[in-house]
Amino acid sequence: MVEIKIEKPIQITQRVSMHSHIRGLGLDEKGKAVKVKDGLVGQVKAREAAGLVVEMVKEGRMAGRGVLFVGPPGTGKTAIAMGIARELGEDTPFVAISGSEIYSSEIKKTEFLMQAIRRTIGVRIRETRSVYEGVITEVNYDFERNPFMPYAQIPVGARITLETEDDKASLRVPEEIAQQLLKLGVKEGDYIEIDEETGHVRRIGRVKGKTKTSYDLGGPRLVEMPKGSIKKVKETVHTVTLNDLDMMAVMQRAAYTSLFGFLEVEKEVSPEVRKAVDEQVKKLVEKGRAEIVPGVLFIDDAHMLDLEAFSFLTRAIESEMTPILILATNRGMTTIRGTDIESPHGIPLDLLDRLLIIPTEPYSEDEVREIIRIRADEEEIPLTEESLDALTRIGVSKSLRYAVQLMEPAKIIARRKGRSKVDTDDVEDASKLFADTKTSLDLINAYSDKLLK
Ligand SMILES: Nc1ncnc2c1ncn2[C@@H]1O[C@H](COP(=O)(O)OP(=O)(O)OP(=O)(O)O)[C@@H](O)[C@H]1O
Ligand SMILES: [Mg+2]
Repeated sequence: MVEIKIEKPIQITQRVSMHSHIRGLGLDEKGKAVKVKDGLVGQVKAREAAGLVVEMVKEGRMAGRGVLFVGPPGTGKTAIAMGIARELGEDTPFVAISGSEIYSSEIKKTEFLMQAIRRTIGVRIRETRSVYEGVITEVNYDFERNPFMPYAQIPVGARITLETEDDKASLRVPEEIAQQLLKLGVKEGDYIEIDEETGHVRRIGRVKGKTKTSYDLGGPRLVEMPKGSIKKVKETVHTVTLNDLDMMAVMQRAAYTSLFGFLEVEKEVSPEVRKAVDEQVKKLVEKGRAEIVPGVLFIDDAHMLDLEAFSFLTRAIESEMTPILILATNRGMTTIRGTDIESPHGIPLDLLDRLLIIPTEPYSEDEVREIIRIRADEEEIPLTEESLDALTRIGVSKSLRYAVQLMEPAKIIARRKGRSKVDTDDVEDASKLFADTKTSLDLINAYSDKLLK
């Protein structure tokens, strides 16, 4: 039996943690932006537009369309896109990549995008499974000596008694199940479920009043005594992505082939595998046993994509099973990467025509102050009112990103001076040691004759 591990969607931790204070879009019931809410400040129009996008995604009315966030650096494009992800909830897949990532991986650019797209399409599968379930009232393991380690004992089976309010049964279970029971530390009073076909054991909780031990704090949750018969048919729902299913198909093929020798699992999924997966999924959907959940594919710094990638995406959003595409860029009129074709935001017009554009605007001084205050809270950096003023000035005159970056070094500088709160001189010291982009460019230009060419 092959064990399949499902990979987590691609996520760039650094980028996500920079936006860890964002909990949602901060809208009220009518979809109006609250000035400061869910970690978001200002940028009212863009947030309200994003709220409408969330609504359309949830109602399934966005398929085959896309969104483009456009605005100067540090105006919250990525932050608002993260807010969208939070609002969509866990059940809607959200995959975030950066335009430049398509070049850095070991696979072809279009294959990388294809995998990202398929990670973004959820398949909610309903299954009916036959299970044994009940509260354990007795458990006895049969041990034998381990033939390779004579002093160790291994479980070769177990006898368990399961009870519900209406039924009671004793079962003999094989080695695989006995091992799972031991690993889970299943005790009398535990409510468990055993899948008849796969033998997978799940502990649902502890039944009130059935446990002998009284220290239930922090352990498995307390549940009511189950009802009905021990053996029953249950409906379960789980969501996987098309990419998960592709990977399972690839692994199954590899396991089969590896009977004849070691075979490395391919990094690229062949079109035949994907076609077979799609057909199976469609059959399940037709039978009413599965539902497609289109998610959101967010591509940050979209101007880093090239023509090949853009035409791939344009075709992809026209096709049948497709995610909602959200792009972000801080470029104005510029050439499409790798060509000398000029286009708004470096994006070809045929794709641009299919996108709803959401602009973001520069912040006012008060908004910058509020964002810095929230970030300082999030990073647990205590600021004096004066140092907050200093950081705000830097945020306005240099850039918000730079001001936020200075907080951590300023905190260390303050600590070295034996202070727990960051003060104005700590911020000033930090800003002398670390340059913002403009200053570093000026420096490079001033020393250009001494630099490597
Ligand atoms: N309206 C806002 N409310 C709260 N935090 C914000 C807001 N806008 C930006 N931020 C925070 O400020 C920092 C910079 O913003 P962000 O990275 O979203 O800008 P961006 O528009 O994506 O910039 P770039 O064009 O450089 O990618 C981040 O830490 C972000 O979470
Ligand atoms: Mg960004």
